[in-house]
Amino acid sequence: MSHRPFTLMPTPRPLARSPQAQRRLLVLGAAAALAAPGWSRAQTQPSRPIVPMTDGPFYPPRAWRERWTDWDADLTRAERGDTPRTALGEHLGLSLVVQDTRGKTIDSAEVEIWQCDALAAYHHPAVRAEAGRIDTGFQGFGSTRSDARGELRFRTIRPVPYPGRTPHIHVKLRHASFGELSSQLFLAGDPGNAPDFLWRRVPEADRAALALNLSPAPAGSGLRWAARHALVVPA
Ligand SMILES: [Fe+2]
Repeated sequence: MSHRPFTLMPTPRPLARSPQAQRRLLVLGAAAALAAPGWSRAQTQPSRPIVPMTDGPFYPPRAWRERWTDWDADLTRAERGDTPRTALGEHLGLSLVVQDTRGKTIDSAEVEIWQCDALAAYHHPAVRAEAGRIDTGFQGFGSTRSDARGELRFRTIRPVPYPGRTPHIHVKLRHASFGELSSQLFLAGDPGNAPDFLWRRVPEADRAALALNLSPAPAGSGLRWAARHALVVPA
């Protein structure tokens, strides 16, 4: 498995001593916050836990995945044989924090995501990979762990509609404190949500916990979109 560094966040700057320099840093900090909304925003999300959902038919079985060369946290690059390929679609930097309903962050939670590619094909053994109908540059599935601050990152694509479904990203979390939990992440304000059979089942008060707010990614990140979101689990 290859792990490449992400370039989503600005590099932290050392503390300055002079008031002028501190003011300059505050201005820079404010600009950075606008470019990439900070955790303060995520942590003010309602502390309702994510609504559990089934895996659906396209969770790729582990035995099948283990034959792949690559299922790291960067779904926008798939290594198949000798040639690394780049995913079609609009690339999205997804910064997540795993925290419980009391706001305590969770270290070393295992987090997996899977979604259909830009051609609306899931990468799963039950889906026939017909040339031209599947994006071989998209990894389809990715896995990582939260760090000591509960944070983790994926690079993926902005989810696209799948026939009969609004754009969504499947997510599965595992940790001794809460066991295993699967759900789906949606795009806040997407016009496909209202008629979506699963979104409609989510009580209104619980929808914010599943809705990603996308913003344009910082220049130079190599991404089109960025989103920061808290995955809230039961305390
Ligand atoms: Fe799905």
